[in-house]
Amino acid sequence: MDQKVTLITGATGYIGGRLLTALEQRGYRVRSLVRDPKRLKNPLNQRTEIVQGNVFDPKSLDIALKNVSVAYYLIHSMGSSGDYEKQDRIAARNFSNAARTAGLERIIYVGGLGNSKEKLSTHLSSRQEVGSILRDSGLNVVEFRASIVIGAGSLSFEMIRALVDRLPVMITPKWVSMKAQPIAIDDLISYLIEALHIPAGQHGVYEIGGRDQVTYAEIMRTYARMRGKFLYMIPVPVLTPYLSSLWLGLVTPLYAHVGRKLIESIMFSTVVNNNRALKVFNTQPMGIKEAICKALKES
Ligand SMILES: NC(=O)c1ccc[n+]([C@@H]2O[C@H](COP(=O)([O-])OP(=O)(O)OC[C@H]3O[C@@H](n4cnc5c(N)ncnc54)[C@H](OP(=O)(O)O)[C@@H]3O)[C@@H](O)[C@H]2O)c1
Repeated sequence: MDQKVTLITGATGYIGGRLLTALEQRGYRVRSLVRDPKRLKNPLNQRTEIVQGNVFDPKSLDIALKNVSVAYYLIHSMGSSGDYEKQDRIAARNFSNAARTAGLERIIYVGGLGNSKEKLSTHLSSRQEVGSILRDSGLNVVEFRASIVIGAGSLSFEMIRALVDRLPVMITPKWVSMKAQPIAIDDLISYLIEALHIPAGQHGVYEIGGRDQVTYAEIMRTYARMRGKFLYMIPVPVLTPYLSSLWLGLVTPLYAHVGRKLIESIMFSTVVNNNRALKVFNTQPMGIKEAICKALKES
């Protein structure tokens, strides 16, 4: 039988790369749309197809989406210079149009957690805007909204690791008391695979997170404890997002470029307010300690 193809965009990225391996291991017929195949992290299964393309090149999208039933949209433009919000809007429109023309059964997207009724950071509103542009296609869209993803190689986890590994004493701004609900990469991948098979009527937005709601300070303390490191935090009342971003750039130059765009989102709580995902999906997310322990074993 001619098995339909599942398309992964962003396969050279963190989540897309992990998902690609997981789908290959489960025997799915996978195609990945990549700008540069050399950036793929793991050797591919022989059955996996690669289409070299770009979300800003609609023709390449038509080729990538041929005979595809479900596509994962795991792309963002925060690594680029310039206005990433605008670029992500155009990219999502291109993908949404191409997916409608190709007659896809479903698009699965990972965006960011954050209460859409409140004012959000540029980064979080942009992530939610992308979800709504994908829904404008009229297709069945499953959008997962996640807080930080814990796993070796995830930008948000690597920033925490770099800070704690380098700074035994930290002057901490107010945002370290903001709550997040980190999710382990294995749990996110489990949700993404389950999303291929939920009934059509169950599409929509799902807020997902690990078992624990924790402050950024607690995440850093948990990480430090598990690494046997000393961590002393000195809270300061005022440290603007701009100063925080300069500080981050000094300590973690490798992550400074995207980190500066992300740090604004840390001022907003990213916890699950709607538990519908736990009723519809079988995934039973782990807590923060187990997630960090797994990430440390992977690195
Ligand atoms: N990681 C987290 O902690 C986290 C948390 C919550 C939500 N999310 C969401 O999950 C999604 C994926 O995140 P991630 O962490 O896996 O991102 P990532 O590692 O930064 O990967 C981004 C991917 O997008 C691709 N891309 C960028 N511009 C493109 C273009 N014009 N055409 C084709 N591909 C393009 C990149 O390809 P190149 O290799 O060519 O640059 C890369 O594969 C995003 O929507 C993100 O907001 C992530």
